[in-house]
Amino acid sequence: MRVRFDSRAWRWAIEPGPDDRLLALGWEVATLEDLDRLATAIGAERQSDARATERAAAALASVIDDAGTTHELVAASALDPRPVVAPYGSRFVADELGLGHSVVVSPDVETSLAFATERLGLRITDTITRPKGVVTFLHCNPRHHSLALVQGPADAPPSLNHVMAQVDSIDAVGQVLERAEAARILSRTLGRHTNDRMLSFYCWTPSGFELEFGTGARTVDPANWVVSDYAGTSTWGHRKLDKEESR
Ligand SMILES: [Fe+2]
Repeated sequence: MRVRFDSRAWRWAIEPGPDDRLLALGWEVATLEDLDRLATAIGAERQSDARATERAAAALASVIDDAGTTHELVAASALDPRPVVAPYGSRFVADELGLGHSVVVSPDVETSLAFATERLGLRITDTITRPKGVVTFLHCNPRHHSLALVQGPADAPPSLNHVMAQVDSIDAVGQVLERAEAARILSRTLGRHTNDRMLSFYCWTPSGFELEFGTGARTVDPANWVVSDYAGTSTWGHRKLDKEESR
C-alpha cells in the first residue's frame, strides 16, 4: 500500500511482512549533487534507476546504520499533479516539511543518535526525560521533529513506536478521532504535547505500532533554536487506554 497525502507521489509504503519492522526511513535531499555528496560522506550505496523509480525519485542511495536502521536518500522526487482529495476532506501539512514524523525504537540509541546528527546532519530540537528513559527529537527543516529516537531492547531490531500525520484543522482531528473511537482502535486520548505543542490523539495500526494524528504543531527556526529538556510528554491528555477501555 502506498499512502499519499501531499504533492509527492506517496509518503508511506506499507509492505507485507512477519512483524512491525521498520523497512526504511526516507530522506529527501535538495539536489542530485547533494545526494552524491551525502551518499559519499556517509557510505550510502547508489541504487539502480529501477529501485529509484520504485521510490518515486530520480536517484536513490541506501545505507544501514550501525544500530540496524536502513536510511534511503532520495533526490528529485516524483510529484503527483493531481490534488489530494481525502475521503473526509482532511488537508495534510506536509510538502516541504516532509511527511510528518517517525519515532524509532533503537536497540542502541546512542549509535542511532550519532548517525542521525554526525552523518545525516539532523539537529537535536529538544529532549523529553521520562522515568523510563529519554526521547530525543531531531529536525532537518522547520518541522519540529521528523525523527525521534528512544532506547528499546538491545537484542531486538529497530522498530517503530509511531508515525505522525498532521492536518490543518482541529475539526479534521476531531472527525478522525470519532472514526478511530468507532473503530475501537484509539490508543491515547486527545492531548497537547509539551515540546512541539501538537494537539493530537493516537490509534493502533494493524501493524502493531501507533499512528499519531494531530494539528497545530509549532515549527522551529533552525538557525535560531535553543535546545530544551522537558520533564513530561504532554501538558494535558494523551492518556494511554488499555485494550478494554478503547472498546
Ligand atoms: Fe509523535
